[in-house]
Amino acid sequence: MKVGIGCDHGGFVLKEACIEALNELGIEYCDYGTYSEESVDYPDFAVKVAQAVLNNHVDKGILLCGTGIGISIAANKFRGIRCAHITDVFSAKASAEHNNANIIAMGGRITSPSEAKAMVKAFFSTPFAGGRHTLRLDKITQIEKNYL
Ligand code: RB5
Repeated sequence: MKVGIGCDHGGFVLKEACIEALNELGIEYCDYGTYSEESVDYPDFAVKVAQAVLNNHVDKGILLCGTGIGISIAANKFRGIRCAHITDVFSAKASAEHNNANIIAMGGRITSPSEAKAMVKAFFSTPFAGGRHTLRLDKITQIEKNYL
């Protein structure tokens, strides 16, 4: 398992916390920036991580911005990306188990570093349940085919 991680300035502190969690889990990662709290545009980092997932350079992704909202909206513009904006451990687990999310997004201005670490651990230790959830994901793929 290899994870791609990216953020804007609003998510920079949370990116460091997520990297700490990945290290504690023994999961390899690729850091796509940004590398400081200097102002940048979050869509640029959504593009880097979404493309890394779709090109199979990494298996899954983590995106961070001030709220997690803008960067998740941008990532979800890519066909095949299921980016879950999460704010708690329950959602982190559900996004893996029910939605087979391939990217999670969190916000540095609404989530603490310790909460983010707990969410990363919950997400990466929860398998996709399959079954009825696969049928629902197939319908999302069909939406991409019909409307995008
Ligand atoms: C940047 O100020 C902020 O808008 C961004 O980090 C994010 O919260 C967008 O959704």
